[in-house]
Amino acid sequence: MKIVTTLSDLRADRQLLSGSVGFVPTMGFLHSGHISLVEAAKNECAGVVASIFVNPTQFGPNEDLANYPRDLPHDLALLETAGVDLVWTPTVEVMYPTGFQTWVQVEKLTQRLEGEVRPGHFRGVTTVVAKLFNAVGPDRAYFGQKDAQQAAVVRRMTRDLDFPVEIVVCPTLREPDGLAMSSRNTYLNSEQRRAATILFRALSAAKSAYDSGERGAEKLRELVSAAVAAEPLAKLQYVSCSDYDSLEELVSVSGKAMISMAVFMGKTRLIDNFVIGG
Ligand code: PAF
Repeated sequence: MKIVTTLSDLRADRQLLSGSVGFVPTMGFLHSGHISLVEAAKNECAGVVASIFVNPTQFGPNEDLANYPRDLPHDLALLETAGVDLVWTPTVEVMYPTGFQTWVQVEKLTQRLEGEVRPGHFRGVTTVVAKLFNAVGPDRAYFGQKDAQQAAVVRRMTRDLDFPVEIVVCPTLREPDGLAMSSRNTYLNSEQRRAATILFRALSAAKSAYDSGERGAEKLRELVSAAVAAEPLAKLQYVSCSDYDSLEELVSVSGKAMISMAVFMGKTRLIDNFVIGG
């Protein structure tokens, strides 16, 4: 596995990969969820490139950039074992050289849900993903369903800017008790970790109502809110029942839809979603 930092080294080593290339962009502190993206890429592509870059422009002023967990040696060992060919670990100076002032922004899709409570977040995501796509030139790029809005926004950007990249969205990986895998889970103390299963339990309550025939979006949202209200350590930030692609809030569920939520466990913010219908 080759590890490179500069853009010129990345381009030179990318040229050496023949056949289709799968790309897994990450912010490091990797877990099995990331490795499942690498495995999907390995199954479908001749070569696999991964990036590790904690992107400062997608963190808000009150978010956890300085304390974002990092463990590069562990990440590289995991990627090597998973069979990645090339890893790019650019520095902030490589990605955002002095004078940087060009941004990529998807407009409507980013104004709701995560975008509403994290202003500027998706502008940072789409800018860095566009730069990563330009540098790596992948045929396919792999994202997790857990960050469902990110996947929808990246799909839109890819179509709108004609990137010749297929966006592949892979299922959320969960701990045995249902908690979605996330680097942020490491911030939880043991009480919060126990209580954090509320996201999975609340979404499961709404999903079983849907499976039993409930189609009212407000009713599904209420089921999630009521479940979270019963967990004293959890504070619901938002719950949504939206169209899968447009992310427009629904009145009733008829096609592919998504129930999504954000919850604070103390200072740690967790998100999760279930896809229904379609
Ligand atoms: O999902 C992430 O880890 C990040 O948002 C991404 C796509 C690597 C961009 O920084």
